[in-house]
Amino acid sequence: MSHEHQPISPITDWKGQHFVSVDQITDKKQIFDLFKRAEIMKQTVENKNIHETLRGMSVVILFYQPSTRTFSSFEAASRRMGAYTYAYNGMNEISSAVKGETLPDTIRSIYQTTAADVIILRHPDDSSSAIAAEASYVPIVNAGSGKSEHPTQALLDLYSLYQTQGHLEGLKVAMVGDLLYGRTIKSLAKLLALVDPNVELHFISPNEVKAPREFVAELSTRCAVSESTDLKKVLPKVDAVYMTRVQEEWFKKANKMDEYERIKNKYVLTRHMVNQMKPSATVMHPLPRNGEIMEEVDEDPRAYYFEQMRAGLYIRMALLDAILANR
Ligand code: CP
Repeated sequence: MSHEHQPISPITDWKGQHFVSVDQITDKKQIFDLFKRAEIMKQTVENKNIHETLRGMSVVILFYQPSTRTFSSFEAASRRMGAYTYAYNGMNEISSAVKGETLPDTIRSIYQTTAADVIILRHPDDSSSAIAAEASYVPIVNAGSGKSEHPTQALLDLYSLYQTQGHLEGLKVAMVGDLLYGRTIKSLAKLLALVDPNVELHFISPNEVKAPREFVAELSTRCAVSESTDLKKVLPKVDAVYMTRVQEEWFKKANKMDEYERIKNKYVLTRHMVNQMKPSATVMHPLPRNGEIMEEVDEDPRAYYFEQMRAGLYIRMALLDAILANR
């Protein structure tokens, strides 16, 4: 059997492409194309219509890290669209990785055993999706790689901002919490800078988990970026606040649990704080939350983190449609 490897290229058309990094998106047209498809998926789901554009295809979901949202929404997206869906959570424990199998060999093996048309991968290593793409004959979709990227989350976050704010131009967004280990803000910040250089990003974090220096330096060439530890000061002027948890698992790995305990509760969004925000503001969180947003905020009309998860279903359906469907 002859196979061809697809390179990781800038995305000019989603069809047949790997989606490993938001850096592949160089034209915002590709984002809005996906949003249009997501609107169709939203209507399909809400009206309980059938949209089985992936019938006969095989979607494989391989997760080496825990997940509630990304795993279930990719599985739901794939099943709803009629694909044969093979979803494995806990690959780090159940696969032959335990016996020393390399990631490239796992990707090659899974392709052979399932006749996969696309492989969706979550993995703790920053370069895992790029490594998988090198080995793969079919598109790899990055569902979260280490501390570096979560490109499909960034798309659903951007879609959520578009839904709530009605536009993406000149938005002022506060990104709060663990900006060192958190991967979602890195991908979202890059996409916001791409859609409009007039956006303003306010990074609010404890000094111990500030965003990486080279990341901030590069992003600052593309849009306005400020860094601070003072959340209360920025709340009244931003259009959205994007809270994130301090990521305990990386502190454990680095043997820095004392530091984690010291900073884990530095930013807790209360109802009182949300009331300092614009009435039109959006409160977001990729979830899970570990106390960064008090439950008393959940009923506030600005709280969008539950709807944000549903946006994940629509965006992931749109993405699978764009990469795989024959139209
Ligand atoms: N937002 C997000 O990636 O959540 P999960 O880890 O539950 O998939």
